[in-house]
Amino acid sequence: MHQPVISGTGVFTPSEVITNDELVIAFNAYADRFNAKNEAAISAGEVPKMAHSSSDFIFAASGIERRHVMDKSGVLDPDRMYPALRQRSDDEPGIMAEMALDACTKALAQAGKTAADVDAVIVAASNMERAYPAVAIEVQDLLGISGFGFDMNVACSSATFGIQAASDMVRSGTARAILVVNPEICSGHLEWRDRDCHFIFGDVCTATLVERKDSVSGAHFEVISTKCLTQFSNNIRNNNGFLRRSRPDGVQDRRDMQFMQNGRKVFKEVLPIVSRHILEHLEEAGHAPDQLKRLWLHQANKAMNDFIGKKVLGRMPEAGEQPNILQEYANTSSAGSIIAFSQYSGDLQDGEMGLICSFGAGYSVGSVLLRRSS
Ligand code: COA
Repeated sequence: MHQPVISGTGVFTPSEVITNDELVIAFNAYADRFNAKNEAAISAGEVPKMAHSSSDFIFAASGIERRHVMDKSGVLDPDRMYPALRQRSDDEPGIMAEMALDACTKALAQAGKTAADVDAVIVAASNMERAYPAVAIEVQDLLGISGFGFDMNVACSSATFGIQAASDMVRSGTARAILVVNPEICSGHLEWRDRDCHFIFGDVCTATLVERKDSVSGAHFEVISTKCLTQFSNNIRNNNGFLRRSRPDGVQDRRDMQFMQNGRKVFKEVLPIVSRHILEHLEEAGHAPDQLKRLWLHQANKAMNDFIGKKVLGRMPEAGEQPNILQEYANTSSAGSIIAFSQYSGDLQDGEMGLICSFGAGYSVGSVLLRRSS
């Protein structure tokens, strides 16, 4: 048996940014056009009038200030309201693979490793660009990795479930080192025309290298244990998937084809599941919550994270104990907790522990308990 460790992480951040104000201007222009077009039906009470969105509401309800996206122009065009991503030919790299390449290269560099040291690639994300061949195999090919790759999807928990799968494979000797990659193009499945959720998501890609402790060459985090949980719920759902709609002709333009959620229910139902899950994980591992130096939580909503931190630690988390990155990135599905880990873990001292925890559609919860080592 081998001790699995995380020895490197990488984050690809799209260069295009949409602030709350820019988003709200586009949304309100869309709403005004919708209302003008449907004036008669609205007057007759057949169609509800669209209300304006507001930057103040978005910040107060979520803590989000801006989001990075793969294409800003399409999202902010009131006549379009979804990203204009170029359809790629089959003989050029896919958009997810391209994002993955950047994040994986950074993770490998941080770990001081090359493709020759890696035996597998897991692409774990909430929406895939295509059904097959697996995006992971394309990433494997672009990096020049021998071995195998596969895709998996557990929505917002894809990264932690992927780290569990990779850790188990490293522990058992199936692979020496595995790249777990999370290319999240949430802008492709978000419904930008829905006031209740149009502000929630952004795009990003994270990569995590999981390898054997006896092969590391620098500081790393031992994977003490992992814990995954799922419980079926329809409160976060997407019936279609990534970019498969063909607007504006109306074909495939049903509301259920993009991201849908009952946000209030999610808020209420998921919080107790997550805090209980973390406490059980710690107890099973023989550790107390006050031994945790840091919580790297899923990045969906600041109030949610404050609540979970308080429940787990038994007090309000101190500044820096539970870092948020959602003000800059918004919710990036499975990648959020990995961005937080990547940006806010370098200062931990040898022997100090922290916990990554994601949660979301499924419902799904995944946690990874880590100890810093040099
Ligand atoms: N701009 C202005 N007002 C808005 C608005 C917008 N964009 N969207 C909603 N509102 C209004 C609503 O109409 C409502 O008004 P009313 O009280 O007059 O009816 C009010 O703001 C409150 O709306 P509500 O949807 O109840 O807000 P909320 O405080 O519950 O926050 C979420 C909404 C989505 C941010 C919150 O429920 C949440 O974060 N849930 C969990 C989401 C999550 O983690 N999802 C996982 C995704 S993977």
